Amino acid sequence: MMKKLLSLLCIGLTFLAVGCGNMTGSDSGDEHANAAVLDLARPVHPPADFAGKRVLVAFFSRAGENFEVGYIEKGNTHIIAEQIAEITRADKVFEIQTVNPYPAAYQEMTKIAKEEQASSARPALAARVEDMDSYDIIYLGYPIWYQDLPMPVYTFLESYDFTGKTIIPFCTGMGNAMSGMEEDIPRFAKGAQLRKGFGIQGKFVHNNPDEAKLEVANWLASLGYTN
Ligand SMILES: Cc1cc2nc3c(=O)[nH]c(=O)nc-3n(C[C@H](O)[C@H](O)[C@H](O)COP(=O)(O)O)c2cc1C
Repeated sequence: MMKKLLSLLCIGLTFLAVGCGNMTGSDSGDEHANAAVLDLARPVHPPADFAGKRVLVAFFSRAGENFEVGYIEKGNTHIIAEQIAEITRADKVFEIQTVNPYPAAYQEMTKIAKEEQASSARPALAARVEDMDSYDIIYLGYPIWYQDLPMPVYTFLESYDFTGKTIIPFCTGMGNAMSGMEEDIPRFAKGAQLRKGFGIQGKFVHNNPDEAKLEVANWLASLGYTN
Protein backbone atom coordinates (compact mmCIF):
# COMPACT_ATOMS: atom_id res chain seq x y z
CA MET A 1 0.00 0.00 0.00
CA MET A 2 2.79 2.39 1.05
CA LYS A 3 4.73 1.50 -2.12
CA LYS A 4 1.70 2.26 -4.27
CA LEU A 5 1.19 5.63 -2.59
CA LEU A 6 4.85 6.51 -3.12
CA SER A 7 4.76 5.63 -6.82
CA LEU A 8 1.55 7.67 -7.28
CA LEU A 9 3.29 10.61 -5.60
CA CYS A 10 6.27 10.19 -7.96
CA ILE A 11 4.02 10.17 -11.04
CA GLY A 12 2.27 13.28 -9.71
CA LEU A 13 5.54 15.10 -9.14
CA THR A 14 6.88 14.10 -12.56
CA PHE A 15 3.71 15.40 -14.20
CA LEU A 16 4.03 18.65 -12.30
CA ALA A 17 7.67 19.02 -13.37
CA VAL A 18 6.84 18.35 -17.03
CA GLY A 19 3.96 20.81 -16.84
CA CYS A 20 6.20 23.54 -15.46
CA GLY A 21 8.89 22.72 -18.03
CA ASN A 22 6.46 23.30 -20.85
CA MET A 23 5.80 26.78 -19.60
CA THR A 24 9.43 27.87 -19.62
CA GLY A 25 11.18 29.60 -22.48
CA SER A 26 8.27 30.46 -24.68
CA ASP A 27 5.63 31.72 -22.32
CA SER A 28 6.34 32.00 -18.63
CA GLY A 29 8.15 30.44 -15.66
CA ASP A 30 11.66 30.82 -14.34
CA GLU A 31 13.50 27.64 -15.27
CA HIS A 32 15.97 27.31 -18.09
CA ALA A 33 16.51 24.35 -20.38
CA ASN A 34 19.95 22.77 -20.36
CA ALA A 35 19.70 20.56 -23.44
CA ALA A 36 18.71 21.59 -26.94
CA VAL A 37 16.45 19.54 -29.20
CA LEU A 38 18.36 20.86 -32.21
CA ASP A 39 22.01 19.92 -32.60
CA LEU A 40 23.56 23.29 -33.44
CA ALA A 41 26.75 21.60 -34.65
CA ARG A 42 24.77 20.10 -37.57
CA PRO A 43 22.81 21.84 -40.34
CA VAL A 44 19.41 23.14 -39.25
CA HIS A 45 16.48 22.93 -41.68
CA PRO A 46 13.42 25.21 -41.66
CA PRO A 47 9.89 23.86 -41.24
CA ALA A 48 8.31 22.70 -44.52
CA ASP A 49 6.07 25.78 -44.75
CA PHE A 50 9.11 28.10 -44.43
CA ALA A 51 11.04 26.42 -47.23
CA GLY A 52 12.19 28.88 -49.89
CA LYS A 53 10.91 31.85 -47.86
CA ARG A 54 13.02 34.87 -47.02
CA VAL A 55 13.68 35.59 -43.37
CA LEU A 56 14.21 38.97 -41.72
CA VAL A 57 15.19 39.42 -38.07
CA ALA A 58 14.15 42.91 -36.94
CA PHE A 59 14.80 43.95 -33.37
CA PHE A 60 14.81 46.88 -30.98
CA SER A 61 17.26 46.70 -28.08
CA ARG A 62 19.06 49.15 -25.88
CA ALA A 63 22.69 49.23 -24.78
CA GLY A 64 23.69 51.38 -21.80
CA GLU A 65 22.66 51.14 -18.18
CA ASN A 66 20.01 48.44 -18.02
CA PHE A 67 17.77 46.56 -15.60
CA GLU A 68 19.74 44.14 -13.33
CA VAL A 69 22.81 43.96 -15.61
CA GLY A 70 24.60 47.27 -15.09
CA TYR A 71 26.11 49.04 -18.08
CA ILE A 72 26.01 46.81 -21.17
CA GLU A 73 27.62 47.22 -24.58
CA LYS A 74 25.03 45.08 -26.35
CA GLY A 75 21.36 44.81 -25.40
CA ASN A 76 19.89 41.48 -24.27
CA THR A 77 17.41 41.33 -27.14
CA HIS A 78 20.21 42.12 -29.57
CA ILE A 79 22.04 38.97 -28.41
CA ILE A 80 18.96 36.81 -28.99
CA ALA A 81 18.33 38.45 -32.39
CA GLU A 82 21.82 37.47 -33.55
CA GLN A 83 21.34 33.91 -32.32
CA ILE A 84 18.02 33.56 -34.16
CA ALA A 85 19.61 34.99 -37.31
CA GLU A 86 22.53 32.57 -37.09
CA ILE A 87 20.44 29.44 -36.45
CA THR A 88 17.76 30.23 -39.06
CA ARG A 89 20.35 31.59 -41.53
CA ALA A 90 18.24 34.73 -41.87
CA ASP A 91 18.62 36.80 -45.02
CA LYS A 92 18.87 40.07 -43.12
CA VAL A 93 19.16 41.51 -39.61
CA PHE A 94 17.71 44.96 -39.06
CA GLU A 95 18.08 47.02 -35.88
CA ILE A 96 15.13 49.30 -35.18
CA GLN A 97 16.70 52.56 -34.04
CA THR A 98 15.13 55.88 -33.14
CA VAL A 99 16.21 59.22 -34.59
CA ASN A 100 16.65 60.40 -30.99
CA PRO A 101 18.53 57.67 -29.12
CA TYR A 102 17.41 56.86 -25.58
CA PRO A 103 19.75 58.09 -22.84
CA ALA A 104 22.31 55.57 -21.55
CA ALA A 105 21.38 56.45 -17.95
CA TYR A 106 18.64 54.12 -16.67
CA GLN A 107 16.52 56.55 -14.62
CA GLU A 108 16.54 59.13 -17.38
CA MET A 109 15.48 56.66 -20.05
CA THR A 110 12.73 55.06 -17.97
CA LYS A 111 11.16 58.49 -17.56
CA ILE A 112 11.10 58.97 -21.34
CA ALA A 113 9.81 55.45 -21.99
CA LYS A 114 6.99 55.96 -19.47
CA GLU A 115 5.98 59.28 -21.01
CA GLU A 116 6.03 57.78 -24.49
CA GLN A 117 3.81 54.91 -23.40
CA ALA A 118 1.36 57.26 -21.64
CA SER A 119 0.97 59.32 -24.82
CA SER A 120 1.05 56.33 -27.24
CA ALA A 121 3.97 58.09 -28.90
CA ARG A 122 5.38 56.91 -32.21
CA PRO A 123 9.07 57.90 -32.02
CA ALA A 124 10.57 58.52 -35.46
CA LEU A 125 12.87 55.78 -36.72
CA ALA A 126 16.33 56.35 -38.14
CA ALA A 127 15.98 53.93 -41.08
CA ARG A 128 13.55 51.75 -43.04
CA VAL A 129 13.82 48.20 -44.33
CA GLU A 130 13.91 49.30 -47.97
CA ASP A 131 13.36 45.79 -49.34
CA MET A 132 10.61 44.79 -46.90
CA ASP A 133 8.51 43.46 -49.79
CA SER A 134 11.00 40.64 -50.30
CA TYR A 135 10.62 39.06 -46.82
CA ASP A 136 8.02 36.47 -45.84
CA ILE A 137 9.00 35.57 -42.28
CA ILE A 138 9.83 38.32 -39.81
CA TYR A 139 11.25 37.54 -36.40
CA LEU A 140 10.45 40.63 -34.36
CA GLY A 141 12.41 41.23 -31.14
CA TYR A 142 12.08 43.80 -28.34
CA PRO A 143 12.50 44.23 -24.58
CA ILE A 144 9.31 44.38 -22.52
CA TRP A 145 8.77 47.96 -21.38
CA TYR A 146 5.98 48.39 -18.85
CA GLN A 147 4.16 45.18 -19.86
CA ASP A 148 4.14 46.43 -23.41
CA LEU A 149 6.24 46.75 -26.56
CA PRO A 150 8.53 49.82 -26.66
CA MET A 151 6.76 52.56 -28.62
CA PRO A 152 9.36 52.56 -31.46
CA VAL A 153 8.33 48.97 -32.20
CA TYR A 154 4.80 50.22 -32.87
CA THR A 155 6.27 52.83 -35.22
CA PHE A 156 7.99 49.95 -37.03
CA LEU A 157 4.80 47.85 -37.21
CA GLU A 158 2.80 50.76 -38.61
CA SER A 159 5.43 51.57 -41.25
CA TYR A 160 4.86 48.63 -43.63
CA ASP A 161 2.24 46.51 -45.32
CA PHE A 162 2.61 43.02 -43.81
CA THR A 163 0.05 41.33 -46.04
CA GLY A 164 1.18 37.76 -46.73
CA LYS A 165 3.94 37.99 -44.12
CA THR A 166 4.33 36.09 -40.86
CA ILE A 167 5.55 37.85 -37.72
CA ILE A 168 7.14 35.71 -35.01
CA PRO A 169 7.75 37.79 -31.87
CA PHE A 170 10.51 37.30 -29.30
CA CYS A 171 11.33 39.38 -26.28
CA THR A 172 13.49 39.70 -23.20
CA GLY A 173 12.24 40.89 -19.83
CA MET A 174 12.46 40.41 -16.09
CA GLY A 175 11.33 36.79 -16.44
CA ASN A 176 10.69 34.28 -19.22
CA ALA A 177 7.27 35.67 -20.07
CA MET A 178 6.22 37.66 -23.10
CA SER A 179 4.69 41.11 -22.69
CA GLY A 180 1.08 39.93 -22.99
CA MET A 181 0.50 42.35 -25.88
CA GLU A 182 1.63 39.99 -28.64
CA GLU A 183 -1.87 39.02 -29.80
CA ASP A 184 -2.44 42.68 -30.67
CA ILE A 185 0.51 42.83 -33.08
CA PRO A 186 -1.65 42.21 -36.19
CA ARG A 187 -3.82 45.21 -35.21
CA PHE A 188 -0.78 47.42 -35.85
CA ALA A 189 1.01 45.34 -38.49
CA LYS A 190 -1.54 45.46 -41.29
CA GLY A 191 -2.10 42.03 -42.84
CA ALA A 192 0.36 40.10 -40.67
CA GLN A 193 -0.11 36.50 -39.57
CA LEU A 194 1.23 35.81 -36.08
CA ARG A 195 3.10 32.71 -34.85
CA LYS A 196 3.88 31.61 -31.30
CA GLY A 197 6.67 33.70 -29.82
CA PHE A 198 9.42 33.34 -27.27
CA GLY A 199 10.22 35.20 -24.06
CA ILE A 200 13.41 34.91 -22.04
CA GLN A 201 14.92 36.67 -19.03
CA GLY A 202 17.27 39.48 -20.09
CA LYS A 203 19.66 39.00 -17.18
CA PHE A 204 19.98 35.29 -18.02
CA VAL A 205 20.78 36.13 -21.66
CA HIS A 206 23.45 38.63 -20.61
CA ASN A 207 25.08 36.27 -18.09
CA ASN A 208 24.64 32.95 -19.96
CA PRO A 209 24.46 33.62 -23.72
CA ASP A 210 25.43 30.06 -24.66
CA GLU A 211 22.69 28.53 -22.52
CA ALA A 212 20.23 31.11 -23.82
CA LYS A 213 21.11 29.95 -27.32
CA LEU A 214 20.02 26.41 -26.44
CA GLU A 215 16.66 27.81 -25.36
CA VAL A 216 16.39 29.68 -28.64
CA ALA A 217 17.12 26.41 -30.42
CA ASN A 218 14.45 24.59 -28.41
CA TRP A 219 11.90 27.24 -29.30
CA LEU A 220 12.85 27.09 -32.99
CA ALA A 221 12.44 23.32 -32.83
CA SER A 222 8.93 23.87 -31.45
CA LEU A 223 8.23 26.00 -34.56
CA GLY A 224 9.30 23.04 -36.73
CA TYR A 225 13.05 23.57 -37.34
CA THR A 226 14.88 20.23 -37.52
CA ASN A 227 18.40 18.87 -38.09
C1 LIG B 1 11.85 51.28 -19.36
C2 LIG B 1 11.88 49.85 -18.98
C3 LIG B 1 10.72 49.19 -18.62
C4 LIG B 1 10.73 47.84 -18.32
N1 LIG B 1 9.55 47.20 -18.03
C5 LIG B 1 9.54 45.85 -17.86
C6 LIG B 1 8.32 45.16 -17.65
O1 LIG B 1 7.25 45.73 -17.58
N2 LIG B 1 8.35 43.81 -17.52
C7 LIG B 1 9.53 43.11 -17.61
O2 LIG B 1 9.50 41.89 -17.52
N3 LIG B 1 10.71 43.75 -17.80
C8 LIG B 1 10.74 45.09 -17.93
N4 LIG B 1 11.93 45.75 -18.14
C9 LIG B 1 13.18 44.97 -18.19
C10 LIG B 1 13.63 44.76 -19.65
O3 LIG B 1 12.58 44.22 -20.41
C11 LIG B 1 14.83 43.82 -19.71
O4 LIG B 1 15.88 44.35 -18.96
C12 LIG B 1 15.27 43.55 -21.13
O5 LIG B 1 16.06 42.40 -21.18
C13 LIG B 1 16.02 44.71 -21.77
O6 LIG B 1 16.32 44.36 -23.11
P1 LIG B 1 17.40 45.08 -24.00
O7 LIG B 1 18.73 44.89 -23.31
O8 LIG B 1 17.35 44.33 -25.30
O9 LIG B 1 17.01 46.50 -24.13
C14 LIG B 1 11.94 47.12 -18.37
C15 LIG B 1 13.14 47.79 -18.70
C16 LIG B 1 13.11 49.13 -19.00
C17 LIG B 1 14.39 49.81 -19.37
